[in-house]
Amino acid sequence: MQTASIGLIGVGTMGSALALNIAENGHDIALYNLDPTTIDDLIARAGELSPRLTKTLDVKALVEALKPPRAVILLVPAGKPVDLSIDALLEHLEPGDTIIDGGNSDYKDTQARTKRVEAAGFRYLGVGVSGGEDGARHGPSMMVGGSPDAWEPIRPIFEAIAAKFKGEPCVAHLGPDGAGHFVKTVHNGIEYADMQMIAEIYGLLRDAEDRSAKDIAPLFHKWNKGPLQSYLVEISANVLDAVDPETGEPMLDIIVDQAGQKGTGRWTVIEAIKMGQSASIIEAAVGARVLSSERDVRQTAGELLGSDVPEGTIFDEDDLEAALLVGRALSYSQGFRILKAASDEFSWDLKYDKIAEVWRAGCIIRSAMLDDISKAFKGDLPHGRLILSEHFADLLKANIGALRRVVAKATLAGLPVPALSSAVSWYDEIRQPRGTANMIQGQRDYFGAHGFGRLDKDGQFHGPW
Ligand code: 6PG
Repeated sequence: MQTASIGLIGVGTMGSALALNIAENGHDIALYNLDPTTIDDLIARAGELSPRLTKTLDVKALVEALKPPRAVILLVPAGKPVDLSIDALLEHLEPGDTIIDGGNSDYKDTQARTKRVEAAGFRYLGVGVSGGEDGARHGPSMMVGGSPDAWEPIRPIFEAIAAKFKGEPCVAHLGPDGAGHFVKTVHNGIEYADMQMIAEIYGLLRDAEDRSAKDIAPLFHKWNKGPLQSYLVEISANVLDAVDPETGEPMLDIIVDQAGQKGTGRWTVIEAIKMGQSASIIEAAVGARVLSSERDVRQTAGELLGSDVPEGTIFDEDDLEAALLVGRALSYSQGFRILKAASDEFSWDLKYDKIAEVWRAGCIIRSAMLDDISKAFKGDLPHGRLILSEHFADLLKANIGALRRVVAKATLAGLPVPALSSAVSWYDEIRQPRGTANMIQGQRDYFGAHGFGRLDKDGQFHGPW
């Protein structure tokens, strides 16, 4: 029975939520999962949407349940499970059918899979899906890569299920093959940086001022009503407010201080470096997660090396808010620069205003700032750099002092602010007309005769060493 408009392989947390979203938007969906009981559970709790969900027991049955031309979404863990699902589908699909990878795949894998699937006569889309379970259920932000031929037939369903910003669907076709997954990777890099800077601010209030989570929460609630308005500030306020039902203690005080990571933040940094770009704020955030996992070392080092937070260290709350705002603007700037590097390298012709628009609702980094970013990219940008737009240059000039004060005070108090301090250093580097690389060039020429340029004439020269 070919009745379903779309198929889904991978009915886990995200898959179940996306299936309900698709069903709610009027589409019948066929489902396949290695463990079929998750589909039974989903159908049992789907209520009036359950008639739109069809359980299938293997990939062949899934394909047979779909109206041609068929489209199947994969929401399986990145890596081998994606390739195995593609192998299984290729045995049963017909030319013109489309496979859509909605996981957090490495864009290079997506490029290779696009080639493989297209060579076999099928279509392929690599779609970055952001917003967690709630987003998948009620409207994710989606970043699409692939051929326009593959995208156009799928577009109506994806526009219907996407998050909306003032009525505009937060989904767009951004470029060919790996473009969507690359943009999602950089989204996650920015997500890491934002999360880390929020954690640093929380740490300053906790460790310098000895404030409880409950006492810090109202500050984040307040900030979420101003220029910092964003999903991550909102949920951080809620996390600060939460109480552990078992002990009655603040939930945050019970959670182990070791952060997990699945790799997308690290990928952003690796790709940035490969493309010759600085992602120092994102890198600091990845590094902080790595160091967080070495809990034993930190505890021994804390005992051996001691802590030196001076009594009475108090941070100005307005400075903390402004510091986070500047840090956020600078990490977005790094992220967009990496996108430009990839766009140039792969001739993707990414539209940065469009990307900012797709991120304005539904995704984890959604924030009030993204609307300003989109506007900035529509205007005239010196060197294409976000921080040089009138809006962001003004924002930085007005608030950089606060970031300096916060980083300086934290450093003097011996409290770690790796991402915030990377932000201020990057800002200072980028606005330094006469840098210090003349010394690097001198050293390189001294030990390796690598040559250098001169300010007073063209050509390559050597020093008198
Ligand atoms: C999103 C998230 C989502 C996810 C990642 C990040 O945009 O919805 O980025 O894709 O939470 O898995 O996870 P890690 O922190 O585990 O790397």
